[in-house]
Amino acid sequence: MPFYSDEIVEEVRSRNDIVDVISQYVKLHRRGSNYVGLCPFHNEKTGSFSVSAGKQMYYCFGCGAGGNVFTFLMNYENETFPEALQELADRAGITLPKREPTREERERADRKSRLLEIQKEAATYYYALLRGERGRQAHEYFRKRALSDETMRRFGLGYSDKYSDDLYRYLKSRGYEDALLKDSGLVTFDEKRGGHDKFWNRAMFPIMDVRGRVIGFGGRVMGEGEPKYLNSPETPVFDKSRNLYALNLARATKRSGMLLCEGYMDVIALHQAGFDNAVASLGTAFTVGHASLLKRYTKEVYLTFDSDGAGIKAALRAIPILKEAGLSAKVIHMEPYKDPDEFIKALGAQEFEKRIGEAENSFFFELRVLEQNYDMRDPESKTAFHNEVARRLLSFEGELERENYITATAERYRIGYEQLRRLVNTLGARGAGQRMPQEQTRLKSGMEHKKKREDGSEKAQKLLLTWLADEPGLFEEIRGEISPDDFADGLYRRVAQMLYAQHEAGAGNPADIISSFADEEQQRQAAELFHATLPRLDSPQEREKALRDVTARVKRGSLEAKKARMDVTNLDDLQRFIDAARGK
Ligand code: UTP
Ligand code: MN
Repeated sequence: MPFYSDEIVEEVRSRNDIVDVISQYVKLHRRGSNYVGLCPFHNEKTGSFSVSAGKQMYYCFGCGAGGNVFTFLMNYENETFPEALQELADRAGITLPKREPTREERERADRKSRLLEIQKEAATYYYALLRGERGRQAHEYFRKRALSDETMRRFGLGYSDKYSDDLYRYLKSRGYEDALLKDSGLVTFDEKRGGHDKFWNRAMFPIMDVRGRVIGFGGRVMGEGEPKYLNSPETPVFDKSRNLYALNLARATKRSGMLLCEGYMDVIALHQAGFDNAVASLGTAFTVGHASLLKRYTKEVYLTFDSDGAGIKAALRAIPILKEAGLSAKVIHMEPYKDPDEFIKALGAQEFEKRIGEAENSFFFELRVLEQNYDMRDPESKTAFHNEVARRLLSFEGELERENYITATAERYRIGYEQLRRLVNTLGARGAGQRMPQEQTRLKSGMEHKKKREDGSEKAQKLLLTWLADEPGLFEEIRGEISPDDFADGLYRRVAQMLYAQHEAGAGNPADIISSFADEEQQRQAAELFHATLPRLDSPQEREKALRDVTARVKRGSLEAKKARMDVTNLDDLQRFIDAARGK
């Protein structure tokens, strides 16, 4: 049973323009009457994701994701329908009538929001401690690391006290029960000591999600000690592979590209020096989840990793992940300094800006590292290196791009251009290239959309529905010829019935049709029906012909379906069928 009336759902939908909403997450470019961009639901390099202002729908021609403004938020933010409705109602300033959530919903939402509350309480507690008498040493520590009070405030830095359970006792006094505190990752329990704090006597870095909600912490020992940084474990509100430190700030940057660093302190030092596009992964390796997160905000990522062996290794791991996500990667060199924090302290922001300008193309960075495994004075080793270079050049799929890289590589390594090109081609012909992993067509919800082959009649039905939605005048042209009954049983017909009914009522509104389906997969399929690719029609004659073709196909499909169902012993049916087939 729906909790909200259709009217309120439709009001919320119509007051949230889909182009505005999706633009908050995806960079859209105008193309004709539509907007296109890179699909946020699968990894791609060319924009297959289309948003229609007229139809108030989106559809991805690559992975088949589609729907209206509600389904977008549900898929993108992993929200339930009531959550998406609430968010969009808030956005439009609509007050939803009260309804009782289900028990399960209430419990789930309750637990999550209580866990977020705890993180916030803890952050406030640490924050206050840093600014009081007990936090003097920590405050001194941050100051020694050249952080201003303003920077400390901006990053919500704090201090966890020397007592091993003061946060625990504080949170208990605020009414949080042990079971919840245990799940927060801030308190651990054992039989002997009971509850005690995970962090104590550390300089504290709250970690926020992209919306600025505290979801966990990193804590540094002040001075020597192991481990140097302690981090919150993953919890229901802290997913390390889907969050980046300081992205809540960096998302608003006016600078181009994002600086990806290794450490909290690096990010903070960069922001303080004016590089407010710096982010870092959270004490874990860089993941595909991080890459797709970054891709929502930028096209270009500057790797700002430590200049030691570990940093180089981390960069070599991150580069293919970034490229696979369709991001371009460049490597910033900080020699002779270890990391951005030290670099800025020693040489300042201007010098760092220069290093950004000199950032190295990630392919040449990879080659330079690779080269170190070969002895260039030994012809055999050198040849092996050239072969490996050629193999890697094969990974560029675009002809022009590959060509440009071959030219640049030949120049850089003093290899004859023709020779290198021939080597690449020979390897390519032998299929020796790096096999690029297939582009993923997996939605975040884990759903796979295999594109099944559709028959001609289905295609025609989709085309007609799309056309009718785009051009309501068409209804008059096909009146008496095609009715909703001519569409295939099930989804097609249901959608056609609604579209016709809307037209009768004087309002074409395909996005509302999507809302009438409760099931996510049906919503997606319904959206697909409105996203056939219309042929280019340059003249009225062409348009006329296309229309005749498509109606004839829909009609033919409809008759065939009827024939298949018809009871041939019933002569009335047979007569009707023959009449229809003759076009009577
Ligand atoms: P670094 O040791 O390079 O940190 O670790 P840093 O930022 O230069 O530290 P400072 O300047 O000495 O304060 C980089 C990142 O790796 C994670 C942290 O996220 C850190 O910011 N890390 C490091 C840990 O999680 N645990 C550790 O013990 C060390
Ligand atoms: Mn450092």
